[in-house]
Amino acid sequence: LKWQDPISSAEMYFRKFPEERVPVWTNPCTDPRHQAILPPSYNCSRKSLPDLLILGPQKTGSTALGSFLSLHPNVSQNVPVPGSFEEVQFFGGQNYLKGVQWYMSNFPNSTASTTVIYEKSATYFDNPAAPKQAAALIPRAKLIVILQNPSQRAYSWYQHLLAHKDPTVISSGSSLLSILSTNSTTSPMWKIRQRCISGGKYVQHLDKWLEHYSLQQIYFVDADELRNEPAKVLTSITKWLDLPDFPFETHIRFSPSKGFHCRLIDGKTLCLGGSKGRKYDEMAPELREKLDEIFEMDNSALYKFLKKMRLKIPDWLQEAVRGRA
Ligand code: A3P
Repeated sequence: LKWQDPISSAEMYFRKFPEERVPVWTNPCTDPRHQAILPPSYNCSRKSLPDLLILGPQKTGSTALGSFLSLHPNVSQNVPVPGSFEEVQFFGGQNYLKGVQWYMSNFPNSTASTTVIYEKSATYFDNPAAPKQAAALIPRAKLIVILQNPSQRAYSWYQHLLAHKDPTVISSGSSLLSILSTNSTTSPMWKIRQRCISGGKYVQHLDKWLEHYSLQQIYFVDADELRNEPAKVLTSITKWLDLPDFPFETHIRFSPSKGFHCRLIDGKTLCLGGSKGRKYDEMAPELREKLDEIFEMDNSALYKFLKKMRLKIPDWLQEAVRGRA
């Protein structure tokens, strides 16, 4: 046995157990011993943690879903966070180190009539650290996952990078097809390839969430249904969340100029900004074929999973699986 000062013994400890460097936050308000020693700035009597996480993944219509859900008078969400597309991006990211009180401070808007607080962060779904961290803090939360054809999702993500003039995409002048054909895992193009593909590997990521949440806590939305019939989708989600009925159909309108449904507030049509629902050419058949080939096994795994769990299989998935049979 030897004596070490606390700092060097902590350094030794974390050298030995590097995975423990990141703390795991639990809810201090659920433990009376913690409550007794909390600073007064912690107000445990106010609802300040989300009951619902919209997991995305990115490019599936998650912003539209959140904006429609916020129309419900008993729903509130986080205040916009600057620098991260208004998202809190707490679990599995740098913000996690800011602690629980920081996370709670993003939900100041709940009132006596709020029954559901939600947040939507596009960084959660395919983040390996997010499920464990989320379940430690909000184990009873409900989760929404939007099922979008992964080929379409990858193409939308590529369009997003093009619109943001991503240096790798712009400098190489690369088409998505050539990016997908990259096999040098150290090249910047490989990173782009992975970003386009990762979120579409549904079952791989769902398995991680299901290690920490039960299937009953997860609601699956078909992205095509959300795009074409948002009021119907929102009505079903409302039921699942045990919220009072709300006439979404009178608050959501299709905008022919936008080509998408938008909110109708005080007689004004409010659509999402230009970065959501972009206008671009349809995917070329050769590119679709390549993407469908990349996602063949993932789509088949998702099909089997949904079938086994007796969940609705989206039309796009039926077609994708049938098309490659
Ligand atoms: P595109 O801009 O490529 O068409 P997310 O918010 O999860 O990142 O998803 C963005 C995608 O949401 C858009 O991708 C668009 O296709 C889809 N979407 C679905 N419903 C929409 C709506 N009502 N308004 C705008 N975009 C919508």
